[in-house]
Parts: sequence; C-alpha cells; structure tokens
Amino acid sequence: MAVELKQGSSLLISGPASVRLCYGALLVIGKKYVRNEEFIVKKGRALPVEVLEDSAIEAKLGTEARIDQFDGVIPENWKSAAESILNSPRPTKALIIGDVDSGKTTFAVYLSNMAFDRGVKVAVIDADPGQAEISLPTTIGYGFLNEGVTSMDKIPLKSAFFIGSTSPSDAPTRVVVGTRRLIDMALSNGAELVTINTCGWIYGRRAREFKTSLIQSISPEYLVVIQRCSEVENLVKAWESISSTEILRVSTSPASRLRSRNERKEKRETAYKKYFAEGRERVFDLENVALLYSYYTYGKPLPVPLLEELKKKVELNLIYGEMGDVFLFLVGDEEPVQVKVDKLRELTSFEEIVLIRRGFEKGILVGLLDYQGNFLGLGAISHIDYAVRRIGIITPVDKEVGAIQIGQLKLDENWREISKLPPFPI
Ligand SMILES: Nc1ncnc2c1ncn2[C@@H]1O[C@H](COP(=O)(O)OP(=O)(O)O)[C@@H](O)[C@H]1O
Ligand SMILES: [Mg+2]
Repeated sequence: MAVELKQGSSLLISGPASVRLCYGALLVIGKKYVRNEEFIVKKGRALPVEVLEDSAIEAKLGTEARIDQFDGVIPENWKSAAESILNSPRPTKALIIGDVDSGKTTFAVYLSNMAFDRGVKVAVIDADPGQAEISLPTTIGYGFLNEGVTSMDKIPLKSAFFIGSTSPSDAPTRVVVGTRRLIDMALSNGAELVTINTCGWIYGRRAREFKTSLIQSISPEYLVVIQRCSEVENLVKAWESISSTEILRVSTSPASRLRSRNERKEKRETAYKKYFAEGRERVFDLENVALLYSYYTYGKPLPVPLLEELKKKVELNLIYGEMGDVFLFLVGDEEPVQVKVDKLRELTSFEEIVLIRRGFEKGILVGLLDYQGNFLGLGAISHIDYAVRRIGIITPVDKEVGAIQIGQLKLDENWREISKLPPFPI
C-alpha cells in the first residue's frame, strides 16, 4: 500500500513490514532515510518514524502489521536532549538511566543515530547483561556505529566483558568495573560520543548504591534520566549540585511497550542456542589456566586422613576437599543437606563451608579470557575432574584460553536458563 505523509507528522510502524520511501525524508529512530531507501520492521517490533519533509512510502504489510499516525512517538524532550548532547564539546559521555521498559535502549539508539548522521564517531556501551543486544546475555559489550541502525543488535561488537549473571544485582561490582573498562576502550579508540545504556534496576538501597557507583566511576557529562513519572529522581538528585554532570530529563514514549519476564528469558535463550550451536568440548588443565570467582583451586587439597575423618564423622562420601584461608570446599557424591553443612561447621573452624555434589558443575556458564584478561566468549562446564584439576567446557571459542571466569547461572542441554547460583558456586 502507498501512504502519503505530511512534514512534521510522526507515526509508529508495527511489523512485520517492509517499507520503501518513494520520495521525501524520514527519521526512523533518528536514522535518516531518503528517496528509494528501504527498511524492515520485524514481527513483534514497532519503529517510531518522524516525517522530515512531505513524503510517500510504499509499504508491504504482513499479518498484524500496521501503520499508525502517532503524535509524540519521539517525545519533544528526546529531541532537545539529543540536541544538547550533540552541541557539547567532545569527547562526551551520556549515561542513560531509567526503569525497565522505559525506553533506555530506544533512546540510546536514537541519540547515537542522530550523532552518527552529523559525522560524530559514536560508541555504544550496552551495559545491561539481562537484555544484552550488542553482546551475549550475561555479558556487557560495546561497538562503534558504522552506519545508522534501527536496533541496537545491529551494532557490531568490538569488545565485551563477562558478568556471569543476567541480573546486575548478583554482581554489581563487576558491572561497574566492566562498564568503565569498555568506556576506556571506546575512548582510546577515538570515540567522540559514548552512549551508555544501563539496566533497569533502580529501586531500593542496593540499586541506589549500584547506580551511584556507576555514575561516580563514569563521571558522565550527561545523565539522561528517562522516566514515566519521577521514579528515577532519588537516584540522580545528588547530581543536581555536581556541575560537571548535567541532568537531562526525558519522558518515556507513549509508544513504549512492557515486556514480560518470560519474553526476556526466551530472547536470551535463543541467543545462547545460536551461540552454542558451534560449540565443542575443550578440556583445560587448571595448572595452566586460572579460575576466577571460585573456591576451587584457591585452597590446598585436604590431607587424606582429614578427609577420611570428616567422611566418618559427618557420614558423607566425600570425594574431594580443599581448604583455604577461611574456607572449606568439599565435593561429595550426594545432594548436600544443611544439617551436614552445620555439622561440618561444628567440627571445623572454617567461616565459609561449601559442600557440593559431584556433577553439580555441569551447565555452569563461564566466561573465557585470553592471556591479557580480555573476554573471548562464553562456555558451559561439562565436567570437572576435581582431584586431577581438569575442567571440560563446551564452547565455540577456539582461541588460546588464559583464564576461566565462573558465572552464576546454569544452563541445561537445550541452553535454557535453569537456575541461578550464588557467587563462587564451586
Ligand atoms: N520512542 C519509542 N517509539 C516506539 N517504540 C518505543 C519507543 N520507546 C520505547 N519503545 C518500545 O518499548 C519497548 C521498551 O523500550 P526499550 O527501549 O527496549 O526499553 P528499556 O531499554 O528501557 O527496557 C520496546 O519494545 C521499544 O521498541
Ligand atoms: Mg534496554
């Protein structure tokens, strides 16, 4: 169907649709389209379009697709916030903070497209490990725009950092450190604008501590606060009086859509499935390859008499044990129960006692790092031979591995997320 569009109007195009611009000029999430150019709107997605000049489009609409006139699909305050950032001295950093589904990612794409169109070298840091688009779920990543994009997942990945969980609340320090590292890389690679997209964890004391540390570690020139009402004010009000950071308030677009927890999870699982399709098992000798964020390998193997004594007193068939500064790490061949852990605590003086069942390690997600400590890719543990210190990992990574970072999530054979784990699960 052909549709005529008036300059200054705006619309929302819901997919699946393919759209060709016959004449005129449009901005699609800030990306400029002129005569004869085309774009696709995927099923389940809806793109905001601003009409820059009188235009006409030819659209092929699939079932459920529609084109709606939609005033304010890009709120006026998005345009003025982008304008302020684009007129500032470079390099500049814009940190976007808001609730879940408030439009953070969409605003990040909008701002980045507007800047790219003006010839600015734009890096986007995608610091939301639960909704990672540039990199894989459980990681945060960054890339440079080398063209305008209609979604964040079209930005090519330059580098990533492993978090090990989909929830920043499980590992907030790692998110702060990783975000800062990626920003430094972007700046040293010549970024003039660094757009930083964050997760939607904003409520409660721990979220406030996390966001405060994040803002302090980044010292952004702009703090873009995106909100429906005033839900983010408490997190950012301190920066009212800090003059090196300017707060820009924008509103959630009336076109924004809430997604369910399940929708997010399914999207991640599709990503793991695709990634691990090329995976094969690799076995690493833990004498040469270090583990990070684990108990295992950080202590000394328990002497046999002591292991035997514990076995008898706690009535546990222990197959391996290690003791460290203040911890005892034990592997048995049955499901651990609290009374036995309590008994172990009584018998020994260790502060931290970790008792796992042999095989518990299967499916734990890990990050593989090279010898420089840079993230290479994801893996899933297949098995550990505790006594001989060998670990098997399913991964598509074929480069040399220097270290293995243990995550806090377990995947099953079909790459579904089956359980969350505590920090240092083994
Ligand atoms: N300005 C907008 N125009 C059209 N759709 C929008 C707009 N802002 C948000 N959305 C839609 O709302 C949903 C949530 O937006 P998103 O940017 O992913 O939020 P967040 O990153 O804060 O979770 C997405 O489906 C997105 O496409
Ligand atoms: Mg997002």
